[in-house]
Amino acid sequence: QAALPKGYTIRPLSSEDYEKGFLDVLTVLTTVGDISKAQFLERFYYLKAHSHEYFTLVIVSPEDRIIGAGTIFVERKFIHNNGLVGHIEDIAVDKNQQGKKLGLRIIQALKHIGAKTGCYKVILDCSEENVPFYEKCGFTRKECEMVWYI
Ligand code: ACO
Repeated sequence: QAALPKGYTIRPLSSEDYEKGFLDVLTVLTTVGDISKAQFLERFYYLKAHSHEYFTLVIVSPEDRIIGAGTIFVERKFIHNNGLVGHIEDIAVDKNQQGKKLGLRIIQALKHIGAKTGCYKVILDCSEENVPFYEKCGFTRKECEMVWYI
């Protein structure tokens, strides 16, 4: 397991992370939108009520800012003997903090959660550009993604 740089910590998302820049770090992924504290808390408490299937981790800098984030969602299937599949989503590391193995550390922690909750596999979708990163995290290429936008 990669160690975090000195002064950095990894922990579950907290209700105070709105003020610590959690939504800002997600802007490296896509449009986040203008989410109020109330809207953040509404989603936060929904996910907390479903904490057996949603796990969001954040990395906190020595300055107490959220500079990395990632989620694993545990899907309940019938196939594979009522099997569980972990879906890794929304991995984000602040632009100024990339290249310090923080992304790797988030993925290692989410894989650990997937294994501990009993998933038989963990999967994710990514761009071609991010394939080398996920290969370094131990993933292999399989099949392809399809999408239907509403
Ligand atoms: N191409 C080639 N190698 C890469 C790339 C890349 N694009 N990104 C990282 N790596 C390599 C690193 O060089 C490092 O290799 P090393 O161990 O040989 O030194 C290894 O992968 C681990 O890299 P980290 O330092 O942990 O990567 P970082 O902290 O910068 O996080 C991430 C990578 C999450 C992709 C980050 O760059 C980011 O937030 N990008 C923008 C948002 C994004 O694309 N997120 C992923 C979306 S897919 C999803 O969420 C399921």
